[in-house]
Amino acid sequence: MTTGESTRNWTRRTLAAQALGRIDVRTRAVVPPVHVATTYVRDPDGQYRSGNVYGRPDNETVREAESLIAALEGSAAAMVLGSGMSAATAVFLALSPGDHVVAPKVMYWALRNWITSEAIDWGLKADLVDTSDLGAVRASMRPGETKLVWLETPANPLWSISDIAAVAEIAHAAGAVLAVDSTCATPMLTRPLEHGADIVMHAATKYLNGHSDVVAGALATARTDALWERIARNRSMLGQILGPFEAFLLIRGMRTLPLRVQAASASAMELAQRLIGHGAVAEVLYPGLPGHPGHALAKRQMSGGFGGMLSIRVHGGEAAAVAAAARVELWKRATSLGGVESLIEHRASIEGAGSPCPKDLLRLSVGIEDPADLFTDLDQALRAASA
Ligand SMILES: Cc1ncc(COP(=O)(O)O)c(C=O)c1O
Repeated sequence: MTTGESTRNWTRRTLAAQALGRIDVRTRAVVPPVHVATTYVRDPDGQYRSGNVYGRPDNETVREAESLIAALEGSAAAMVLGSGMSAATAVFLALSPGDHVVAPKVMYWALRNWITSEAIDWGLKADLVDTSDLGAVRASMRPGETKLVWLETPANPLWSISDIAAVAEIAHAAGAVLAVDSTCATPMLTRPLEHGADIVMHAATKYLNGHSDVVAGALATARTDALWERIARNRSMLGQILGPFEAFLLIRGMRTLPLRVQAASASAMELAQRLIGHGAVAEVLYPGLPGHPGHALAKRQMSGGFGGMLSIRVHGGEAAAVAAAARVELWKRATSLGGVESLIEHRASIEGAGSPCPKDLLRLSVGIEDPADLFTDLDQALRAASA
């Protein structure tokens, strides 16, 4: 059991740093213990007054991670699951066969592939649209049939921005809920529920954990309604709960989330500005740049920065992009994003056929290293590749 939560309105940075200020009741430890039990003792009359019955639905360490995510997102409740994909698919699978969903053309590729294959086989109908175009979103609605609109903003790998408030209005008018994959914005830069979204999803594997050592997913909800209860029931029945050690690591990672996101966003902006003028770079895709098509909206919808993700398109096409990625020394050539170490990836190689990702694109996940070192390394790799 933990205690110590203050009732005052501390900022998110303060809440994160202290993981809500919870302390262990018995030992007074400032870091609560990791609860590993898979089962809990009944009271003599057979009741479970502790609220804990069995490890598949119940774990206190998991609940602590959820409380912190709920505080950061300003949600009524939160849920952590075994991966970002398990969190995202849990929302779709809480619908019913025959329901229609709308999702972006530009989004995390594995979820897009799942929606257009497995989700259809399971019985959902799906349309992929340009969600940065409100007319296209409006035209895709089937009132009474559309039950879910999915957004990702900023969206992989072009960092397209969608208008959460406007899409929420369109979705709600058609009787649908709006869920937002906010993995790359993080609650430090955008809180989708404040803009009218119903559910927020995170690949907690990325920024929330931040150290490339936990695979986890999170959902946060505006209301604990029937849809939420169904998602929770499915998590319990299908065994999708996050493990207690992973939940502990996630809490530890989130303590520094505000500082990490601030540093990554500032460095990404600096790199984006320096890369615009680079001779080997054809285009820089970053919502913080005035030339990005989503910049004005991002300025309204995001606060405190534009995130740590950017992409560059390299002169010389796919071969030059792959050659540049091959020559980095400091950047790590790896998939994933949102960790303290900077990653570079030739994204088209992983996304495959049907992806809107240009073949000359390199995706950059900016970590918390010195941005001058990051630029020096990228610069030498780009120069060597184009020589
Ligand atoms: C934006 C986004 N959403 C969802 C996911 C899926 O998360 P996970 O790999 O934890 O299943 C990822 C993973 O790369 C992602 O980048």
